[in-house]
Amino acid sequence: MRKEITDRSDIAILVDEFYKKIRADKEIGFYFNNTITDWEEHLNKLTDFWEMNLFGGKKYKGDPLKAHVEVEQKFQHQIGPNEFGIWLNYWAQTLDELYEGENVSILKRRARKMGTFIYMEMFKSRS
Ligand code: HEM
Repeated sequence: MRKEITDRSDIAILVDEFYKKIRADKEIGFYFNNTITDWEEHLNKLTDFWEMNLFGGKKYKGDPLKAHVEVEQKFQHQIGPNEFGIWLNYWAQTLDELYEGENVSILKRRARKMGTFIYMEMFKSRS
């Protein structure tokens, strides 16, 4: 039986498994593999981000909107709904493979919502 997401270590495993899929993906792995140089730091940062998102606290210090606008500019506006769709599918898939319960639904919902905001911000920055 799969377990519930109860603490940081569960999130660390989720983030780790999620990025293995992302990095290996033919369509979007490229964006990550060509931007992130320190993977340990990145995985830690994203674990902070989702931990804070789910359990509160102030560990994550960053600006995801700004980070994605920069990524989008670096790759000359190639990131669109297709890329977000792939990202979100891996997120949901990894959550379902590893865990069950309410926090799984919360994390799926929060990522979808945030994806919308990130995408709108990227789109606005094009004009
Ligand atoms: C759909 C929802 C998404 C969420 C919730 C999300 C979330 C995040 C977060 C929290 C960070 C860390 C930002 C920071 O503090 O540096 C990040 C970084 C990054 N994201 Fe996303 N992301 C999403 C979609 C995407 C997509 C579709 C792409 C590209 C195809 C992408 C590419 C990147 C890259 C390359 C970084 C590293 C930026 C850097 O370190 O310079 N993300 N993402």
